[in-house]
Amino acid sequence: MALNTNLCFEEEIYLLTVRDFQKMRQADEKITMMTAYDYPSAAQAETAGTDTILVGDSLGNVVLGYDSTTQVTIDDMVHHGKAVRRGAPETFVVVDMPFMSYHVSVEEGIKNATYIFQQTDAQALKLEGASKETVSITNRLTQGGIPVVGHLGLTPQTVNVMGGYRVQGNNETAGQKLLDDAKRLEEAGISLLVLECVPKELAGVITEALTIPTIGIGAGVDCSGQVLVYHDLLQYGSHRLPKFVKSYADFNHAGVEGLKSYVTEVKQKEFPQDSHAYQIKDKQFLPK
Ligand code: KIV
Repeated sequence: MALNTNLCFEEEIYLLTVRDFQKMRQADEKITMMTAYDYPSAAQAETAGTDTILVGDSLGNVVLGYDSTTQVTIDDMVHHGKAVRRGAPETFVVVDMPFMSYHVSVEEGIKNATYIFQQTDAQALKLEGASKETVSITNRLTQGGIPVVGHLGLTPQTVNVMGGYRVQGNNETAGQKLLDDAKRLEEAGISLLVLECVPKELAGVITEALTIPTIGIGAGVDCSGQVLVYHDLLQYGSHRLPKFVKSYADFNHAGVEGLKSYVTEVKQKEFPQDSHAYQIKDKQFLPK
């Protein structure tokens, strides 16, 4: 983990900052990001040594059981963001601004962003897209001191407008628009840019064109870092995985096997055993 240097205080601070991510990009050190949504997943992510955690609004799909992210609310993000902060107190945490929380007006977007940032004690907020309002809010937030992570390519909050979960930037016009949007967001002050589901060559061109780090998900190896969803990484509840996911464990199998054993052992009176029970100290106290 890269450490801050030239700090005003002498003690070592292990929480990374946006400056560290910039330095990692310059040093060609890949940045790792994974999602987490609660105390135990955040604690695991921090113990695993991830550089940053995203409290993604994918929590709608993978934790709350919705079929898209559009039902996730500000209260959901705050509730889960707080739990992640408690589980990973030493990790750079990014919290997603949920659907329509920054589209009604710039003023309302800033008010909502400030509320989420303060309530969750996050290090940055992530906003999808590069609409005029989003660029303007990004500019105002970064000027005011809230780091912003951009998100281009497949942006799940607008999946209904995009016509489904598809690879983005597949033709010259769409590719050029993504590149232009990325540059506008960089100019507006974003610290990191998530690129989701774009051809790897295009992600490489966008990364080259920017000075800030890019974080890819389904965007190939040339991004400055990678992000995956916790439940996809560990196969925990997710069954249909996109092509870009690599799973590193199988919690679905291990978890169900463990639960089945518990059900069987209770039915067969094998659990609990004496070692799991408390014994009364003096049998004469037993009611007759
Ligand atoms: O919500 C989320 O988990 C995300 C990642 C897929 C980047 O935005």
